[in-house]
Amino acid sequence: MKKWMQFLILICSITSTSALLASGGLGEDGGKQMPEVTNAKWKAECSSCHMLYHPGLLPERSWNKLMGGLDKHFGENASLDAETQAEITRFLALNSADKQDNRRSKRFNQSIPANAIPLRISETRYFVSKHDEVSATTFKRKSIGSAANCAACHKGAEKGNFSESQVKIPR
Ligand code: HEC
Ligand code: HEC
Repeated sequence: MKKWMQFLILICSITSTSALLASGGLGEDGGKQMPEVTNAKWKAECSSCHMLYHPGLLPERSWNKLMGGLDKHFGENASLDAETQAEITRFLALNSADKQDNRRSKRFNQSIPANAIPLRISETRYFVSKHDEVSATTFKRKSIGSAANCAACHKGAEKGNFSESQVKIPR
């Protein structure tokens, strides 16, 4: 093969690979991040008091328990009409950590003992192990609030992106 042809083939394969990556063909970080998912009712009802938590952060049994106790939701009454509650519960279950095929959701899911039904993402073993270098006083900063405010430090959190390269702790 002529040198210039080899060069041309090399360039073509590089550009098509990066196009595939950029378009999310393999998912960012090769399937590590959660896919972006959405539902209008979930978006409207579950983001008025805090950020939207991606369904892939907790297993189905956690979402079912959380959705079954909205009248006593972390000290707040977050009750919904039966139809809205059922639709959001279905959406969360369908996209939950034990139904997802990305590495991140699997890590969250595997870190939860089979007999446990956590309601807080921030109390899962995987979360705790990944944040052992973030101090309690950092989480309490005015610009952050608590460990539950993922979006303060992970700007892609609501879309399911927790890539290390995007982490930025605000002052
Ligand atoms: C009326 C306000 C309100 C609404 C509406 C609400 N929440 Fe919450 N939620 C809270 C509060 C308060 C907390 C505790 C926050 C903290 O400790 O920082 C919380 C915490 C959570 C947590 C635990 C976060 C963690 O890892 O510590 C999850 C998960 C959650 N909410 C899901 C939902 C879902 C799903 C909906 C929609 C059905 C919803 N919330 C609607 C007030 C609300
Ligand atoms: C105070 C800022 C802060 C908050 C709030 C926060 N994180 Fe993080 N997170 C970090 C830092 C710092 C790291 C470590 C990054 C590294 O290893 O380079 C991290 C790492 C992670 C990782 C592992 C990234 C990787 O590829 O290794 C995940 C997953 C994650 N966070 C999820 C969450 C979730 C879910 C929430 C909310 C429930 C949250 N984080 C809240 C700062 C934060």
